[in-house]
This record gives sequence, structure tokens and C-alpha cells, in this order.
Amino acid sequence: PETHALQGLRLLISAGPTYEDIDPVRYVGNRSSGKMGYALAAAAAGLGAQVVLVSGPVQLPTPSGVQRIDVRSAAQMREAVLNALPADIYIGAAAVSDYTPRQVAAQKLKKTADSQSLVIELVRTPDILAEVAAQTQSLKLVVGFAAETHDVEKYARGKLVDKRLDLVIANQVGISGGGFESDNNAATAFWQDGEQVFPATSKRELAEQLLALIARRLQA
Ligand code: C5P
Repeated sequence: PETHALQGLRLLISAGPTYEDIDPVRYVGNRSSGKMGYALAAAAAGLGAQVVLVSGPVQLPTPSGVQRIDVRSAAQMREAVLNALPADIYIGAAAVSDYTPRQVAAQKLKKTADSQSLVIELVRTPDILAEVAAQTQSLKLVVGFAAETHDVEKYARGKLVDKRLDLVIANQVGISGGGFESDNNAATAFWQDGEQVFPATSKRELAEQLLALIARRLQA
């Protein structure tokens, strides 16, 4: 069989949301099924890549041939990702929480008769993708995702520059027929001197097409 450009390469992929605990029964999290990251992991393993998948809490089976590491919070995801390096390619497909509660309450927060509002202080989480992209030793390509409700190209190109990425895969969210929880997705990929539109299709098919682009960018 023909060998693929990704054959034998080590791909590190993050997927799913992170859950940031407020107390023993509540958390702050992002809407993310993990399906896009899992589809990329499955497709890459199918092409003969050595795939490590760092996954937040999701309801999905582990794709065959993929090494999966389960985490819950952004801090745990960062630790697992950094420990899994070096890799040839990093794909940050996780919907990492941007903020986490300053403190996790040891006991369930109780509502009281006189408290009509509750303030939870949130602090920024580390930007895992930017941190990985700054470690240039072994990485040949660093890919990020951008889920945006508006000004998709502007924000996607902003991330390319700010986080020093090689490729950003942007989705418009908040429209029907794609994005969160859906089995289908459309995307536009942006790199320094180009872009490519991927019309709506299954996440599995989109994953195959994105890996073909990743293989091309690797050789560029
Ligand atoms: O800046 P924004 O969160 O929109 O960027 C999205 C990209 O950055 C995704 O690839 C996501 O996995 C990654 N990210 C990260 N760590 C964070 C926030 C986002 O790796 N704390």
C-alpha cells in the first residue's frame, strides 16, 4: 500500500471540553462533544500515525489504535499534553475553559433564603496551545481551532499570529447544521499565506480532508 505523509509520525491531539469544578457537584465547562478531535484521531490512526489523544470528559469510544489519556480540568489537560511531548504534530481541538474558579469549595454551596445572587470569581487558565507552540524543538506543525460566532476570519488570523500557529481551523458556531454536538461540520482553514474552505460534511470526512491539508502544509 501507498505510504501516507503522516505514517509513523507522532500526533498529539486534544479533544473535548474541560470541566472546572466549583464545588463537589458543580462545574463550569464548554459545550463540546469531542467529536471533531476524536474523528481526527481515528482518521490519523487509520493513516498509520502514532496518535495520542488527551481527552476531556466526553461520551465517545476510544478510536482503535489510539492511545487515550483522560483528564478533567484545563490544568490537568495542560499537564497531560506537556507530558506527552515530544510530538511531530499538535492539534488543539479541545474546547478548553478560558477561566476556572479561583477556589474549589470543599462542600456543596448552599442557597440561602436571603441570597438572590452568587458571585464566583474566575481566573484565567493557561493557554495550552500557545504554550505548546512556543516549544518548537520537535514540532513540525501546530494546529489550532477557532470556534467563533462572528468575524471568523479576523479572529482566526489573529490566533494564527498571536499563538504562533501554523494552521487554524475555524468554524462558525451558533448556526444550525454544524459545530457543537453535531455529527456534521463546515470549516475554513487559514495559514500564513493561504486559506481553504471545507463545505459542510460529516466530521469523519472533514477529518480526512483536514489531515490531507495538514500533510500538504507539512511538506510546504
Ligand atoms: O483563544 P481561543 O480559546 O479561541 O483559541 C482556541 C484554540 O486554543 C483551540 O485550539 C483550543 O484548543 C486552544 N486553547 C488552549 N488552551 C486554552 C484555550 C484555548 O489550548 N486555555
